[in-house]
Amino acid sequence: MKAFRVCIVGGGSTFTLGFLKSFVRLREAFPLKKLVLFDIDSDRQEPIGKYGEILFKERFPELDFSYTTDIREAYEGMDFVFMQMRAGGLPMRAKDEHIPLSMGLVGQETCGAGGMAYGLRSCVDMIKAVHQIRTYAPEAWILNYSNPAAIVAEALRREFPDDKRILNICDQPENVVRSCSRLLQCSWEDLDPVYFGLNHYGWFTHMYDIRTGEDLLPKIREMVARNGFLPQDAEQRDKSWLDTYGMVKTIMEDFPQFLPNTYDQYYLYPEYKASHLDPDFTRADEVMAGREKRVFGECAEVIREGRLGDKFDEISDAHAEMMIKVAESIAYNKNDRHIMIVENNGAIANMQNDAMVEVVCELGANGPRPMRVGNIPQFYLGLLVNQVSCEKLIVDAYFENSYQKALEAFTLNRLINDGKKARKVLDALIEANKGMWPELK
Ligand code: NAD
Ligand code: G6P
Ligand code: MN
Repeated sequence: MKAFRVCIVGGGSTFTLGFLKSFVRLREAFPLKKLVLFDIDSDRQEPIGKYGEILFKERFPELDFSYTTDIREAYEGMDFVFMQMRAGGLPMRAKDEHIPLSMGLVGQETCGAGGMAYGLRSCVDMIKAVHQIRTYAPEAWILNYSNPAAIVAEALRREFPDDKRILNICDQPENVVRSCSRLLQCSWEDLDPVYFGLNHYGWFTHMYDIRTGEDLLPKIREMVARNGFLPQDAEQRDKSWLDTYGMVKTIMEDFPQFLPNTYDQYYLYPEYKASHLDPDFTRADEVMAGREKRVFGECAEVIREGRLGDKFDEISDAHAEMMIKVAESIAYNKNDRHIMIVENNGAIANMQNDAMVEVVCELGANGPRPMRVGNIPQFYLGLLVNQVSCEKLIVDAYFENSYQKALEAFTLNRLINDGKKARKVLDALIEANKGMWPELK
């Protein structure tokens, strides 16, 4: 069986340990011969790299594993590049969230003003990184899930229009499917969803039982009304994520037709969310106090002891496993179904062709084949046309260095929705992002 060479960009990410363990767990299904971690921050990456050396010595000694800050070492000869960089790091995420909230607007990683701020930083860093990857690995499959994935996907589509091996994907739709399986007490792989939307802004129209074809969505609707909605791994989640999943019940009371993605809460209830988020302790603060501490604490312990022992089984890893299964589906032309971000081209019949939409795709050695969802109802179309316009305008702002386009994007966004508020928060974010954004004139 062929074995693959993989690079992870953002090797110092809080999600990397999950990948290292999952590459061991999935070594039969997706065999690796070489794994390189790449990061621009060697201090962040080193403990994770050392952890990897200890892990693989114990569980996968034949793997050629290394970590580096050198782009040639990172990319040369790679078959797959997994991208999970955070442009500006968690401290800038904190600003993306705190600045809008201080003005009474939602502050969030990917939605609203904070998402657009992060989007402009990611356009700069992601486009640069993809050019570097293509210098050394012209044929590699690039799997991007660096956020904000919607804006990054649109920017990469424009910068690399002929490159069919850049794929954009997010795990949240699958996480919602997994939550349904928790409710229904079945395996999530027994569920066959139909989904439409943009990244972090979509709905499930059907959730079929893969064996019988029965649509389980009516049953799910009843169960959510009765029992609420929890992530599949609720026992390991922070409070803010439990609150987020809890909002699915509220959304389905108001808009019962479809099952929402959890991120829809920000677009449907922007004022309620802005007034219920803590401006002094946002999700970035919670991540820095929680996941980041846990991950680097685990590294320190393993490095001190020189062994992993039972720590191998501690973290549950739906996220890493999904991304590895995506690579596996390409590598072996499996044509598995994954919900991916692709150019619309008729998948959602009444939306513009060049929108980057999120739909179910069959994924194989020739890339994703999107499955059509037909026309979507006017309410959803209205919401999505508004947001796709916003995403396109912020990417215009990046390519044209245009303050005006950025102001239009901010004004159009449902989480801002006012020209004066838009200008105020945009100006504050320009100040906070000096040197990390393109200059807007
Ligand atoms: P993190 O800050 O812990 O890790 C990101 C790493 O990227 C850091 O080590 C940082 O030094 C590095 N980095 C920053 N700029 C870089 C560059 N230009 N080149 C290489 N490395 C760079 O963040 P995190 O919370 O672990 O998240 C990592 C990323 O993965 C974020 O973009 C997050 O939004 C994304 N993510 C996406 C999904 C999804 O489903 N779409 C799921 C999980 C995480
Ligand atoms: C989900 C989303 C991602 C997001 C991740 C982590 O998986 O799909 O886009 O980055 O959650 O979010 P967090 O707030 O925990 O860092
Ligand atoms: Mn996501």
